[in-house]
Amino acid sequence: MPVGHDAAVDHNAALRRVAATRYVTPFREGGSLPGLVEADDLGMYVLKFRGAGQGLKALVAEVVVGELARRLGFRVPEVVFVDLDPTLSKAEPDEEIQDLLNASGGVNLGFDYLPGSFDFTPRVRDPGAELAARLLWLDALVLNVDRSWRNPNMLLWHREVWLIDHGASLYFHHRWGPGWQPAPSYRYDAADHAMLPAAGSVVDADRELRPRVMPVLDEVLALVPDEWLVAEPTPGSAADTRAAYTAYFASRIERADQWVPALEETRAARV
Ligand SMILES: Nc1ncnc2c1ncn2[C@@H]1O[C@H](COP(=O)(O)OP(=O)(O)OP(=O)(O)O)[C@@H](O)[C@H]1O
Ligand SMILES: [Mg+2]
Repeated sequence: MPVGHDAAVDHNAALRRVAATRYVTPFREGGSLPGLVEADDLGMYVLKFRGAGQGLKALVAEVVVGELARRLGFRVPEVVFVDLDPTLSKAEPDEEIQDLLNASGGVNLGFDYLPGSFDFTPRVRDPGAELAARLLWLDALVLNVDRSWRNPNMLLWHREVWLIDHGASLYFHHRWGPGWQPAPSYRYDAADHAMLPAAGSVVDADRELRPRVMPVLDEVLALVPDEWLVAEPTPGSAADTRAAYTAYFASRIERADQWVPALEETRAARV
């Protein structure tokens, strides 16, 4: 695919839907045992299984954060829904993978496989102070703890930085129930963030990105299947759940004047 094929993803359209035709191989390093699958459009996708231990909430976080990131100008592999027929497990000798496939009938999540990509950290290549600061800001917004220098969850592909693995973000949704309200503040420790040593001004990143979140949020939340939004624990219906995510983002954005200076302090302590 040509560089910049992310530009071909239509921000306003629903995510594409494909059907898995072949399970190729597991990504052993992934905690959730993601697998490489081939689909009926002949594309290859990194599949995050609905039946994995992380559950549907991780898939919701992947869609919400990945699609928000894309709209804020980050590079994210195309996200597709992948229908999986559990009988694919019949061709699979490994029992753990058989179980995963058997538990994952229905709609799963796929990411366009970036062939020849490799793990990115600022030691591999300088990402630029601006991109680094923006990513620090994004991860603090969505409470993404999975971008440490140990586990950067960024890929270098065609000389660009691509973001992956947002399933651990928005962790508050694991404790949802009726009447849930966003907390006045959330703990976010950026000390181990992979981009910290390279980041420029987070205040500048904040000024640029803050106004762009709420205008695209409804469109992003609309991409998530209702069925995923009512998985327990939940504040209520799919509409209630979307409203709860919106309440979180509104509150977090409103309090950016508290957490942005905290990020700047962490950065100053590091430099
Ligand atoms: N779109 C992609 N193209 C190429 N390789 C990918 C892609 N997405 C993921 N990978 C590879 O698969 C690995 C596992 O993916 P990912 O980090 O999303 O899974 P995970 O189970 O959430 O991982 P962990 O919890 O261990 O961080 C990545 O480290 C990367 O090497
Ligand atoms: Mg990962």
